[in-house]
Amino acid sequence: MTALSQPLRAGTPRLDVERVRKDFPILEQRVRGKPLVYLDSAATSQKPRAVIDAIASYYLQDNANVHRGVHLLSERATQAYEDSRGRVKRFINAAHEHEIIFVRGTTEAINLVAQTYGKSRVRAGDEILITAMEHHSNIVPWQMLCEEKGAVLRVAPIDDDGQLLLDELERLIGPRTRLLALAHVSNALGTINPLRRIVEMAHRRKVPVLLDGAQAAPHLALDMQALGCDFYAFSGHKLFGPTGIGVLYGRSELLEEMPPWQGGGDMISSVTFEKTTYNKLPYKFEAGTPDIAGAIGLGAAIDYVSALGLSAIAAHEHDLLAYATEALRQVPGLRLVGTAKEKASVLSFLLGDVHPHDIGTVLDREGIAIRTGHHCAQPLMRRLGVAATARASLAFYNRREDVDALVAGLHKVREVFE
Ligand SMILES: Cc1ncc(COP(=O)(O)O)c(C=O)c1O
Repeated sequence: MTALSQPLRAGTPRLDVERVRKDFPILEQRVRGKPLVYLDSAATSQKPRAVIDAIASYYLQDNANVHRGVHLLSERATQAYEDSRGRVKRFINAAHEHEIIFVRGTTEAINLVAQTYGKSRVRAGDEILITAMEHHSNIVPWQMLCEEKGAVLRVAPIDDDGQLLLDELERLIGPRTRLLALAHVSNALGTINPLRRIVEMAHRRKVPVLLDGAQAAPHLALDMQALGCDFYAFSGHKLFGPTGIGVLYGRSELLEEMPPWQGGGDMISSVTFEKTTYNKLPYKFEAGTPDIAGAIGLGAAIDYVSALGLSAIAAHEHDLLAYATEALRQVPGLRLVGTAKEKASVLSFLLGDVHPHDIGTVLDREGIAIRTGHHCAQPLMRRLGVAATARASLAFYNRREDVDALVAGLHKVREVFE
């Protein structure tokens, strides 16, 4: 697995960022009279023209429902939709295409597992283990399940740098643990969790692992077979694809055993008023007309990212993260929140006593887009003793000039509030 914090290897291909930026029409605009500096890719990434074109081309030429029609358009739409599943399978190196379930996004993927695997396996007194750095979408579905079942939600602690305390985590994996669910990369801190070790730890105790890959898929090369996790969830819109589409990867054995979630068209094999039998994987979990255009857009995004090369992307982002970390450290009064040794493209920070919302507002006037708030991780904010942070997040289309603009903007913030 390629971590952004790994040293660059000799011979890693360089990314031509200026050329890459030309593929993202949205980045060419001025906002508030200034060139747009987009530093909010962890919230959602921008889309290359190839993705926009693939969606337009589907609607212009192939639009039809999938899996049902006998006519040519339906055949083409089905082919394109299923081709995208194949692209996802190769992108994450899953063993089988039927292990790829199209969903709305990470949130829906996790809810699907909670409502199927969770409902059928979790009993009163059982435990679900998560960590202190989870996004709400990897907390609330488990809380809801625990409430319903009388189960217990356990939380593995972190240190002040935002790194998991692995010994504590290991101690929390007990005989009643039914699932370990954790982020691959933290959206609020950028921490990359040491997953190989964690998955091995859980599997030694026969505990399945769900990984929230929302912030990992856009930055790290993924390999489900090497990682050995049981479930992996990510969102298309953070991976340079459209909103409304995401992926749940699940190991065949588990998916086969799990009951379906939503009922409706396409997920059935036969229906009578007395009894319904369900379709095979992956369709058992894809009730109703899916987001066909979204899946096609996601396939195009995966093609785009793969053509750039994950190692070139990682090398560029590694360089940029190091540059940005150093540059922000030079800003008087700035404190980075999240200083793990292994990090991906997220810089959370506080600036003196200035409220993060005010930082964001002043930066917006300079054409700089960042995110401020609790980042859907209120328990994490509480653990770190902060109400909110400002967060700049990077993608491969960012360059050092963007970081320089951010630093200049932060000096303006200091002028305004000092
Ligand atoms: C770590 C993490 N998990 C889950 C989510 C939820 O993703 P979505 O809103 O696309 O379902 C996000 C979104 O910010 C995230 O950063």
